[in-house]
Amino acid sequence: AVGAPAVTREEVFSGDPYNNVSENIFSKMGRNLHHQEDHPLGIIKNVIWEYFDTLDGKAFEKFDDLKPIVSTEMNFDQVLVPKDHVSRSPNDTYYVDEETVLRCHTSAHQTETLQQGHDRFLVIGDVYRRDTIDATHYPVFHQMEGVRVFEPAEWEAAGVDGTEFAAKELKETLEGMTRHLFGNVEMRWVDAYFPFTEPSFELEIFFKGEWLEVLGCGVMQQQILDGAGGEGKKAWAFGLGLERLAMVLFEIPDIRLFWTEDERFTKQFKAGDFTPGGAGIKFQSFSKFPPCLKDVSFWVNDEFTENNLCEQVRNIAGDLVENVVLIDDFTNKKINKRSNCYRITYRSMERSLTNEEIDALQEKVRETMAGEMGLELR
Ligand code: PHE
Repeated sequence: AVGAPAVTREEVFSGDPYNNVSENIFSKMGRNLHHQEDHPLGIIKNVIWEYFDTLDGKAFEKFDDLKPIVSTEMNFDQVLVPKDHVSRSPNDTYYVDEETVLRCHTSAHQTETLQQGHDRFLVIGDVYRRDTIDATHYPVFHQMEGVRVFEPAEWEAAGVDGTEFAAKELKETLEGMTRHLFGNVEMRWVDAYFPFTEPSFELEIFFKGEWLEVLGCGVMQQQILDGAGGEGKKAWAFGLGLERLAMVLFEIPDIRLFWTEDERFTKQFKAGDFTPGGAGIKFQSFSKFPPCLKDVSFWVNDEFTENNLCEQVRNIAGDLVENVVLIDDFTNKKINKRSNCYRITYRSMERSLTNEEIDALQEKVRETMAGEMGLELR
């Protein structure tokens, strides 16, 4: 059932010293927003699925309930993420224990799904990343992965090599998908880098006066395909973030809104209510409550990272925190200490907050910084 926990507390809180998953994150696991047909994420998911159903030939298979707890092997090694890549750091990724993570991308499922023999499929699910806090970043978001495998006969018939064939098919497929979502927009391909594809590209569109990145993709590294039972074949893969697309298509101004149960938000969306480019389905903002800004200054220590601060603030204030931003950074050369000042913006999207409530949150943040984070406040 929707809302039932997909994972148990025991699976997430291992007691391992390496564990860095918070209660706040655990509370999001099992919400399964992408299973809700009337939710903007469910609507976008279905629009993309529909496109992949209408392509010629065999339909794409769809996986939308794969468990978000995966091995580091799946999340990183199988897709050739280098040992020293930043995404492996516990500053960026949620670890259950040293060998188990909350997936940071749906690419974690490429290998297992190929190994099961699927040759064209879509994987959609919640992914988890430690990050900073603003209107477009949230530690849980949703991705869709697509993979398509080709047999040698296909590129031989076309008289080109496998990589060229896959890259061309990939671009045509994704341009079609983008038109299905955005209508007739200007598009451009930008060279990119991903450990799991070569060549790699990003697709950008000119939408509402701006160039906007829609997805990342490329021709799958042969080593991945070979290791998953696809020797001699070729494949492409793409990955996209659903929130980003839903935010521009529906004009949703803050990523926290996806998680709200406020009916003024949820009642605005209905399954199937979609036209390419988002015409006619704009989110009507309900009136914004006033923000409350609080600054905190401190001497930086060796362990300090912005992601850690944001994680603590999120744990204390939940979705009442809108933004955390560094507003001052200087080094006192005489005492050789570095000082930072962060500005925290508190605002509820649902109600007006009292001064007492915000002061209490800010006091907790300060206590955690001085206590757990070992920072000397100024
Ligand atoms: N996994 C990549 C990301 O999270 C997206 C991607 C998927 C890129 C597949 C290329 C191929 O950014």
